[in-house]
Parts: sequence; C-alpha cells; structure tokens
Amino acid sequence: MLHRFLPIVTLAVSVLGASQFDVLEFSNYGFQGFYRLVLKIENVDDESCTCTLSSKPTKFSGINSPLDQGVSVHFRGPLTLSQFAFYTSSGFVHGDDSSGDWTRQAYYDGPLSTADNVTFLTNAGTNSTCLGKGLTYAGLDGISKAENPTVLAENTLINSNEEFLIMLNVSCESSGFKKDCGVYREGIPAYHGFYGAVKMFLFEFKMPRETVITNNKTDYFDLPAIWILNDHIPRTSQYPTNANCSCWGTGCGEFDVFEALNYTEKDHLYSTIHDYQGSGDIQLGISVPGYIARNTNGIMKGGVAFDSKGTAVVWVSNSTSFDATISASNINKWVSNEGDSGQKPLLTVTQTAANIGTGVISSSFSWLWMAILLFV
Ligand SMILES: *[C@@H]1O[C@H](CO)[C@@H](O)[C@H](O)[C@H]1NC(C)=O
Ligand SMILES: *[C@@H]1O[C@H](CO)[C@@H](O)[C@H](O)[C@H]1NC(C)=O
Ligand SMILES: *[C@@H]1O[C@H](CO)[C@@H](O)[C@H](O)[C@H]1NC(C)=O
Ligand SMILES: *[C@@H]1O[C@H](CO)[C@@H](O)[C@H](O)[C@H]1NC(C)=O
Ligand SMILES: *[C@@H]1O[C@H](CO)[C@@H](O)[C@H](O)[C@H]1NC(C)=O
Ligand SMILES: *[C@@H]1O[C@H](CO)[C@@H](O)[C@H](O)[C@H]1NC(C)=O
Ligand SMILES: *[C@@H]1O[C@H](CO)[C@@H](O)[C@H](O)[C@H]1NC(C)=O
Repeated sequence: MLHRFLPIVTLAVSVLGASQFDVLEFSNYGFQGFYRLVLKIENVDDESCTCTLSSKPTKFSGINSPLDQGVSVHFRGPLTLSQFAFYTSSGFVHGDDSSGDWTRQAYYDGPLSTADNVTFLTNAGTNSTCLGKGLTYAGLDGISKAENPTVLAENTLINSNEEFLIMLNVSCESSGFKKDCGVYREGIPAYHGFYGAVKMFLFEFKMPRETVITNNKTDYFDLPAIWILNDHIPRTSQYPTNANCSCWGTGCGEFDVFEALNYTEKDHLYSTIHDYQGSGDIQLGISVPGYIARNTNGIMKGGVAFDSKGTAVVWVSNSTSFDATISASNINKWVSNEGDSGQKPLLTVTQTAANIGTGVISSSFSWLWMAILLFV
C-alpha cells in the first residue's frame, strides 16, 4: 500500500515542472486532526484474517504532527547505509543560529559496526493473508530474519524492493489499545520509534545503480528511498491487503525524505508528506516541487530536521557530520541554500467532523489501487 507507484503522483509532479535543489523545505507542517489506530487483529494465520480500526479517533495537533509522535525510519534499495543518527533539540529553528542545539540520542556507525540505541528490523516473518509478512529482527544483511537484535554489517547493499527499518532500542509493553505502543501484531519484536516533535535524522548512504537484480519488472526496480512512518504502522502491518490493518489510510503519517518515484526519474529524489494536511488524497500526498539529485557513483550525506516552528527541511551536503552535539549554526551552514531551495508551504487546516470520512474513503482507494496493481 505504501509507496505503490501510482500514475497520479507522476501527473502532479510533471505539471509542477520540478527542478533540482540541495535543500527541500516544507513550512507550516502539522495541523489539528485525528487518525484511527488498529483496535483488533484477528486470525492472523488463516484466510479469515481481519482487522478493525478503532471508532475512537486519536487526536493530534501542533507542530510536525502527526509525526511529532514516535516514528520508524525505513530504507529501500539499491542502498548502502554507512551512518545513521537521531537527534533531539529543545528549540531549534531553521535558519536561526542562536536557536537550540541538537543532541544525539541514537547512532549507527557502519565502519565501526556499532549501534547505540537503535534496533534493525525487517519484514521477514510469516506471511499472513491480511497483514503480509511479519516484522522480525534483521540479520547482518538487513533483510533476513535474525533471532536477536543484530547490527547491520558494514557496506551492506540491499537491492531493489528490499527494505529494512530502524527503531529505538526501547521495547514496548504488551500489545493493547491503551498500552504504550497500542495494538500490534503478536510475535513481533515490538519497539518504540524515535520520539519528540523537534527531531532530526542524519544519513550517510549510497544509492548505486541496480546491478544485482536484473529483472526490471521487479517492484521499485532501481527506485531507492529513505522515509519515515508513524511507528504504529510497521508494528501492525506495513503492507496490509486490508487497509483496516494499519492506521496509515486514516492519516497517522508518512514523510518521504529521499524517494525515487518512477523509473524515468530514477535519479530524482523527491520529498512527500502523506497525510490530510491540505490533501484529501493521501496516496498523492504533497510534494515539494523540486528534487535532490541521486548520486549513483558516490557517497551521499544529508538529513531531515523537523524544527520547533513546523518547518521540515531535507538536505544533502557533504559537510554533514554526525557529532554527539551539533550547534544550530552548523546545521544552518550545511543547509545554506536559503532562497535557492524547493519550498512548499502547507495549508493550515483542521480536520473537522465534516471530513471525518476522508480516511476511510482514501483507504478504500488504496485498497482499490492495490487490487489493480495485483492484476497488472
Ligand atoms: C515519471 O515522472 C516524470 C515526472 O513526473 C514523468 O514525466 C514521467 O512520465 C514519469 N514516468 C513514468 C514511466 O510514468
Ligand atoms: C543512547 O541513549 C542514551 C539515553 O538517552 C544517551 O545518554 C546516549 O548518549 C545515547 N547513545 C548515543 C550513541 O547517542
Ligand atoms: C538501549 O541502549 C542503551 C544505551 O546503549 C542501553 O543502556 C539500554 O540497555 C538499551 N536498551 C535496550 C532495551 O536494549
Ligand atoms: C503473502 O500473502 C498474500 C495474500 O495471501 C499474497 O498475495 C502474497 O503474495 C504473499 N507474499 C509473499 C511474499 O509470499
Ligand atoms: C526492461 O528490460 C527490457 C528488456 O531488456 C527492455 O526492453 C525495457 O526497455 C526495460 N524497461 C525499463 C523500464 O528499463
Ligand atoms: C474496514 O472497516 C470499515 C469500517 O468498519 C468497514 O466498512 C470496511 O468494510 C472494512 N474494510 C475491510 C477491507 O475489511
Ligand atoms: C560529495 O562527496 C561524494 C563522495 O565523495 C562525491 O561523489 C560528490 O560529488 C560530493 N558532492 C558534492 C556536491 O560535492
């Protein structure tokens, strides 16, 4: 369901006539709204597998919502991850050198093969008719199932259509609607995502041309991506066949940081928000009308910072460093293309009772798209 390649996305981008930037920026991110969490998951292992969304809405508001809550960070090949870091800040403001510094809270260092406060997971568990494959620990290669938490091996290349994800190393309590992590699929290693409304992720990675998988009919052939989801999504189901098995369709949140959207533009990385802020169509979402160039021959460094005023800024810069503390002025130096960045101010909206049905309508659309895609 997520990241399915849809013609409608293509259409909107070509109409906007995108051009290349090193910085992509959304302002006014966050709104007052709600989504629906999964309340029940039943008969996981047989044909009658089904899920129920809660009739009680989960409300949210404020800067960077709904992703001001815990989030998971996802990677799709062709990709090699060599560094990853998560930071929080008490008051960083994009462009303001005197605003809050950033403190590192989690770090993966590929060359040293060390991982502090991070857990590597992947969808390598048992397949279920409504939930798809279950979440497991990821092995050294990022994509096979491991029995215990395992640090991704240095220089691990994942290929087209292969994925892993990262959460914090903080375990969830048992599954339950009123528990810390809500309802989740039984049997998975359940972890908390990265918390805080004001947060930042840094990445050092490669997105080389696909050479290992040669079948260009593979889903997402040579279309790498790094993206962020509400952490409830991978804990119930990232790719359900029943939209009620995920809060995604009701708008619990997705932020695509660097995503190649289609094969014609496989070297253009777009940034897209999928929720209901100014878009009734969650599949389409809202993109910055511009892209970051994918370097298929070298290392890329960059990140995404969600600041204390609701500006989400995505950048690439070879100056990006992964220090334990980073001053606001350093970040602002790396992200110095102010005035020459792709920008998208988001609309201020309130999701009222009048558009309460939107999530349900849209999730049935995604279900419909999925059915169409399965027949293509
Ligand atoms: C990919 O996206 C570009 C720009 O949005 C568009 O011009 C092109 O037709 C798309 N390619 C395919 C195969 O849809
Ligand atoms: C891991 O988290 C703890 C507690 O938040 C923090 O003190 C420590 O610095 C973190 N480790 C890294 C490598 O960031
Ligand atoms: C998470 O990492 C911290 C710092 O490395 C460590 O103290 C803590 O025990 C870890 N927690 C879990 C649940 O693994
Ligand atoms: C998992 O099950 C679904 C539904 O039965 C099926 O469509 C899908 O191909 C299966 N996936 C894998 C990887 O076996
Ligand atoms: C896929 O491979 C076939 C055969 O090699 C080729 O004709 C076709 O153009 C390729 N499609 C893409 C999207 O590269
Ligand atoms: C999802 O839940 C809604 C509301 O209860 C229901 O109308 C719909 O049929 C469900 N969808 C599926 C695929 O079960
Ligand atoms: C960044 O570094 C990589 C790897 O060294 C190099 O290929 C790339 O050209 C550099 N990018 C810029 C903008 O200097």
